[in-house]
Amino acid sequence: EKGGWDSFMDKEIHEDPAAVQRTLLGRLDKHGDINLDEVRIEPHDFKAIDKIIVIACGTAAYAGMVAKYAIEHWVRIPVEVELAHEFRYRDPILTPRTLVVAISQSGETMDTLMALRHAREQGSKVLAICNTQGASIPRESDAVLYTHAGPEVAVASTKAFVAQITAAYVLGLYLAQVKGAMFRDEIQSTLDSLKAMPRKIQWILDTQAKAVQKAAEQMVNAKSFLFLGRHVGYPVAMEGALKLKEIAYTFTEGFAAGELKHGPIALVDEGEPIVFIVPPARGRNVLHAKVISGIEEVKARGAFIIAVAEEGDPDVERYADVVFWRPKAPTLMSPLVDVVPLQLFAMDMAKLKGYDVDKPRNLAKSVTVE
Ligand code: M6R
Repeated sequence: EKGGWDSFMDKEIHEDPAAVQRTLLGRLDKHGDINLDEVRIEPHDFKAIDKIIVIACGTAAYAGMVAKYAIEHWVRIPVEVELAHEFRYRDPILTPRTLVVAISQSGETMDTLMALRHAREQGSKVLAICNTQGASIPRESDAVLYTHAGPEVAVASTKAFVAQITAAYVLGLYLAQVKGAMFRDEIQSTLDSLKAMPRKIQWILDTQAKAVQKAAEQMVNAKSFLFLGRHVGYPVAMEGALKLKEIAYTFTEGFAAGELKHGPIALVDEGEPIVFIVPPARGRNVLHAKVISGIEEVKARGAFIIAVAEEGDPDVERYADVVFWRPKAPTLMSPLVDVVPLQLFAMDMAKLKGYDVDKPRNLAKSVTVE
C-alpha cells in the first residue's frame, strides 16, 4: 500500500503535486471559466455572500488562514478564520449572507462538525471543503467542494493541506467571477499560476530533498525551533511548526515575524534554530525587506538561520546558514511550495530520531471527540 515508500508520510508528501492537480481538475469549463455547479449553491446566492467564516482545526485551519489572504485580496469581502472549537462556544455574528466554510480532511473532526451545526442552526449556509466522500461534515453541509488528494493515512497532514489551499483558491476565484470582483483575464492568469504549481512542487521534491535531509542531520539534537513568516508565510510557519512538534516531538513555536520585537526575540539565544519563510523579493518587496531585517536581528544575536526562499535571493544567500530554495512563484501561490520542504524536514527529523512518522504518540488521524 505504501507503493515502495517506507512510510505513508513519505508517499503522501510525494503526492503533493498530484493533490493540487487533481483538485483543479474538472473545475474549469471549456472556456476556461470556473464551474462549480457541483457545489449546489446557486450563482445568485454566491453573488450575495458578503462575508466568509472558515471553521477548521490544526492544519486545515492553517489552509484557511492562507486562503484568507487570497480571498480578501481577490473578492474584497472579509474572511475570518476561526478554530472550530472556539467558534462553537461563542456567539458568532452570522447572517444569511455569511458563507461558513468548514475545512476538514477526514470530514469527521467532532469540533468542526459541532461548529458547522452551530452555524447552520443560526441560518448560515455551510460549504465543506473535504477530502473524504460521504463523511459526516460534507453530509451535514449545504454544499461540498471535495479535495481530490486521495486517502491520507499518515497522522500528519501533508497532501491534504496543499489540496485544501487549492480548493479554497478555486472557491475564491469563483466568487470573484460571479461577483465581478476581478477582470476575466486576471482570473485566467491567476488560474494559470495555480495550474503551474504542481510542476513547481515537483521541482522542490526533485532538487531540495537532499538539502533538507542534510539540515535534519545537522539539527537532530536541537531542543526547540522557532518558525516565522509574514503574510501567507505566517500560516506556513505555523504549519511547519505543527509538523515538527507532532511527529518529531520537538518543541516549536510558529508566529508572525512582525511579532519578534513584541516579545519572542527574548527567546533568541546563541545557536537557536529559526526557520524563516522569506517572501519573493519582487513585487511585494516591502515584506521581503521586513523579513530580511528580522533575519538580521536574530542573526546578530547568534541564531542559526534556516530560510525557505526564492531561488537566488541574494539577501538570503548572505545571511542564512541553511536554505531550502523554491522556484519563482507569485506571493499568493508560494505557500503551496514553501510548505513542502517543511513537511520533508519534519519527516526526516522524526525518522532520524527513530520515531514512527505515520503514527505519532498520543494522536489519532481523525479526532472524533470534542
Ligand atoms: O481531518 P481534519 O482536517 O478535520 O483534521 C484537523 C486536524 O485534526 C488535523 O489537521 C491535525 O492538526 C493534523 N494531525 C495535522 O497534521
